[in-house]
Amino acid sequence: MSILFLKNEKIFALHTKKTTYEMQVDELGHLRHLYYGRRVSGSLSHLYHPADYGFSPNPYEKRLQTGYSLDTMPQEYPGCNQGDFRVSALVPRAGDGSCGADFCYESHEILEGKYTVEGMPSAFARETEAQTLIVKLADPAAGLELTLYYGVFEERDMITRAARIKNIGGQELTLEKAASACLDVPFGDWELLHFHGRHLMERQIERIPVMHGIQTISSRRGASSHHHNPFLILAEHETTEKYGDCCGVMLVYSGSYRLDVEKDQSGGIRVVPGIHDEMFRWPLTPGESFQTPEVLLTFSHEGLETLSQNYHRFIRKNICRSRWTEKKRPVLINNWEATYFDFDTDKIISIAREASALGVDLLVLDDGWFGGRNSEHQGLGDWIVNEEKLPGGLNRLIEEVNRLGMRFGLWIEPEMVNEDSDFYRAHPDWALTLPGKAPTMGRDQLVLDMSRPEVVEYLYERIGALLRNHRIDYIKWDMNRNMTDVYSRALPAQNQGQVFHRYILGVYDLLERLTGQFPEVLFEGCAGGGGRFDAAMLSYFPQIWCSDDTDAIERLTIQHGTSFAYPVSAVGAHVSACPNHQTGRTVPIDTRAVVAMSGTFGYELDLNLLTEAEKEAVRGQITRFHRYADLIREGDYFRLENPDDRLPYLAWQFVSEDQTESLVNVVITHSRGNAPLVRLRLRGLDPQAEYRLAVFDVFGAIGNPESKEAETPEPSGISGGDALMYGGLVLPRLYGDYPSVQIYFRRL
Ligand code: DGJ
Repeated sequence: MSILFLKNEKIFALHTKKTTYEMQVDELGHLRHLYYGRRVSGSLSHLYHPADYGFSPNPYEKRLQTGYSLDTMPQEYPGCNQGDFRVSALVPRAGDGSCGADFCYESHEILEGKYTVEGMPSAFARETEAQTLIVKLADPAAGLELTLYYGVFEERDMITRAARIKNIGGQELTLEKAASACLDVPFGDWELLHFHGRHLMERQIERIPVMHGIQTISSRRGASSHHHNPFLILAEHETTEKYGDCCGVMLVYSGSYRLDVEKDQSGGIRVVPGIHDEMFRWPLTPGESFQTPEVLLTFSHEGLETLSQNYHRFIRKNICRSRWTEKKRPVLINNWEATYFDFDTDKIISIAREASALGVDLLVLDDGWFGGRNSEHQGLGDWIVNEEKLPGGLNRLIEEVNRLGMRFGLWIEPEMVNEDSDFYRAHPDWALTLPGKAPTMGRDQLVLDMSRPEVVEYLYERIGALLRNHRIDYIKWDMNRNMTDVYSRALPAQNQGQVFHRYILGVYDLLERLTGQFPEVLFEGCAGGGGRFDAAMLSYFPQIWCSDDTDAIERLTIQHGTSFAYPVSAVGAHVSACPNHQTGRTVPIDTRAVVAMSGTFGYELDLNLLTEAEKEAVRGQITRFHRYADLIREGDYFRLENPDDRLPYLAWQFVSEDQTESLVNVVITHSRGNAPLVRLRLRGLDPQAEYRLAVFDVFGAIGNPESKEAETPEPSGISGGDALMYGGLVLPRLYGDYPSVQIYFRRL
């Protein structure tokens, strides 16, 4: 039993393999948070101590007992305007304009299996993988019932949470804020790790002290965004990759969100994750409910590495629903950086022919195949093939690609429309625009009003027809601007505060239906690169294009940051041309492949322009990828170094779950004279086992040809797992720009 109810003390104890989460119903019925941390047994009620901090109000029943205050009590889901001055989870506005909520326990249920979240993606459980705790609370005076859901995945060290708010009163009320959960951490010296960025530089890690006051990680863009990922980690000051306490909070949501982190007067920390409340107003008529998105919580006392691995496994096994999640992905060639909009059938076939000869499995036709789409200024919305570019239509092209032994994939951007399109001319009111104002443009396109069921229905028909009428094995689902002018012409004034959230519900509905109807199709997510890289999207897309920056050296930090939350199996990564189109940098083609291989692997360049030597290199890369694909996709991922360590290299490692094989990757990011030797202590091996170094691939020159120094020998032979982990490996000095190494070990 992973969920226990200790009747006498009214304590709920949620146990996973290595963690415990405890909460208690107190004498007034408030659900008080006690503990989330390393696994312990028994009650932790002694951790809560009423203490008077002054100016902290008391509930009426406790007016003579200072010390009991919601303002200083750790809670599971704080209401508002009832004595807790910290960040609230819920702001309900009653019909008479009053606003206040304070929930007390009513009942609970413990169920086998995992609860579901209506209308949104959420974690799922197989057979006995999870248990559910449902706690019902209410504030009858406010006319509200609150249902808190807890999913406990014992083996995965993961706890999921969500909330449902119901109007049980006699009058309409409006939710002005409805967060998914609250996590109060009463003491400890915590730092905040979050993942910020921009287009072409997503998910850069920042580690900062949690300050007194409120720090907010958020997006108001209608998408989870390039700029801040809906994920954070609280780590104790001394926590490193390998040691120490840390706790992750990940929102399963793709729209505007906020994660507030508040350090209060007592040094306690509160994290409140949920839908962004700016422009959010959700009316509830009597009997109606509002469902929040889900949150995934994990705790590790063994450092950040374990925390990340918990999320990696969970996302692969309990979030991604595609059949492709556990399957080897095709090595693909995408024409975007090879041609941009300037292509025709012959050009695409010439790329496909070369790709097929080199061993590529699938050709992706990117943007520009439809309507009048010859630049970003026209055609979006007209999902009809452009026969001027592709005479004979898609089917002729697909047949030729199939004849070359490759499968075919197609780019679409369903949620958007250009003003210059037949679709927009027919349905101008289907785009989000403000009445009487010229719309704000982004990439010269508008956002469709996905809150309207008829828009979703239309797209379902159109994309469905594309997939039914053509042999399409892969879809790249792009989304290239953020939302402005958020106003739906289909909704009355009092419902306009629903548009942001209804939009994303519309996107989920469309994805749910299309991925459900075409389960054999591999769907890859994309939003101008990694602008919607979140757990909810991963429910539909087993892989997401990680960034529009394809420069291998930039990708090192982007993929490193991404790895804190998301599995490598989800990271779309390609080898592109050099000088790189985003940075102008030139990196050896094999190093580009080492980096892209720590992702789904593919190519995005005109292979015809490669030299014979480069083509030979590509053949070798594809062979290597096939050898390592399962290990990379399903193995445990270890960050051996941090870009912030200011080392002239970055190294990372994969270890299969059964510890029988491991792949170490190193890229030299700064070539230096008299460079310190690269010493790596490996991770995750069986210390008792012996490992044979089976492959030592160096992509670059060993040693400086000008130098007379004795060369460091290459590592070789058989070593104990303990020797490789505690002693480590020393690499020979590499020479030149951005050389790299891949080392593969097999257990004897
Ligand atoms: C943005 C994507 O991230 C690119 O890979 C490419 O598909 C373009 N959109 C096409 O418009």
